[in-house]
Amino acid sequence: MLRLWSLCQYKGICILNKKGDYPWELYTLKEILQATNNFQDDNKIGEGGFGSVYWGRTSKGHEIAVKRLKAMTAKAEMEFAVEVEILGRVRHKNLLGLRGFYAGGDERLIVYDYMPNHSLITHLHGQLAQDCLLDWPRRMSIALGSAEGIAYLHHEASPHIIHRDIKASNVLLDPQFQAKVADFGFAKLIPEGISHLTTRVKGTLGYLAPEYAMWGKVSESCDVYSFGILLLEIISARKPLEKLPGGVKRDIVQWVTPYVQKGAFDHIPDPKLKGRYDRTQLKSVIMLAMKCTDSNPENRPSMLEVVDWLKGGIGRTRKELQNIAMEDKVNEEDEEKDKKGIQREGLGMDKHNVRRKRASSRMR
Ligand SMILES: Nc1ncnc2c1ncn2[C@@H]1O[C@H](COP(=O)(O)OP(=O)(O)O)[C@@H](O)[C@H]1O
Ligand SMILES: [Mg+2]
Repeated sequence: MLRLWSLCQYKGICILNKKGDYPWELYTLKEILQATNNFQDDNKIGEGGFGSVYWGRTSKGHEIAVKRLKAMTAKAEMEFAVEVEILGRVRHKNLLGLRGFYAGGDERLIVYDYMPNHSLITHLHGQLAQDCLLDWPRRMSIALGSAEGIAYLHHEASPHIIHRDIKASNVLLDPQFQAKVADFGFAKLIPEGISHLTTRVKGTLGYLAPEYAMWGKVSESCDVYSFGILLLEIISARKPLEKLPGGVKRDIVQWVTPYVQKGAFDHIPDPKLKGRYDRTQLKSVIMLAMKCTDSNPENRPSMLEVVDWLKGGIGRTRKELQNIAMEDKVNEEDEEKDKKGIQREGLGMDKHNVRRKRASSRMR
């Protein structure tokens, strides 16, 4: 059985922390099989390009997620090695943590911390979209967290890292709904002094920067473009690419541009928010998304500038957020009073009073 160090030797990878220890735990295949119930279908929580992801619980009681590569192709093995190498290098509150991995025979497994609130895609377009668990402050904090994670990759990691697949299914949410950027299978390490590389195009349609999609020119600003698309998606809950009735595809930037030009910002947010958002913040974040998705990479901000912009916007309008929270509280109290009124109605109390109250709360 191979353990993680054999993979390191085999790939010429050496990832040690400052103390010289490996920064992760060692797992045997037996432990992982026990934790995931032999990769039973019931344990499956996600499906990606190269493998499936399973939930598990270790003998120590930790919840884990295990990515299991489907087929041992050269491409899949490369993705595995890249993901393990990159995750072994990075530690940041907004990047998904690596717990360990296993490589032996035809089995390639990566063990992560389990994220109980799934990925952003589940909340924006998937099973949990109707529950609307992402209110405006949560959306803003996820936007800022994802930006901080990407800024760390671009500006703090050494060498710098370009993710190349920033999208809603690759942003996971921890128990407090904090963003964790995940899925480093397509990531690229950028040697110092190099401004861009030309590579084969990877990534996901709808999120690809034009210079990358057309010429394979990859630089940090490709991630900035994808982040801009993600921002628009977080705000509007629309998909990055939509098929219109005639079969024509429209991207989210084409959809949002006429509203921005007319200043009709209120048409943009997710209708499930029912108008509960901060207008100043909305406008500021949309203008930022427009800058990030500029077709000329030189006009896009850096991720550090994006973080500053988001922090500034959120800080400036904290007072207004408090006002929204107050408004919500008043509405909730009214609804509560209404409910009590209805109960009293059932007990034969003043029906007219209840109706009047309902009408006035509807007008507010
Ligand atoms: N740590 C995790 N906790 C919870 N769900 C996860 C975790 N890792 C992955 N998933 C789920 O599995 C899906 C695919 O994982 P991902 O790492 O993006 O793999 P791929 O490279 O195959 O796209 C994610 O979109 C998510 O729904
Ligand atoms: Mg993925």
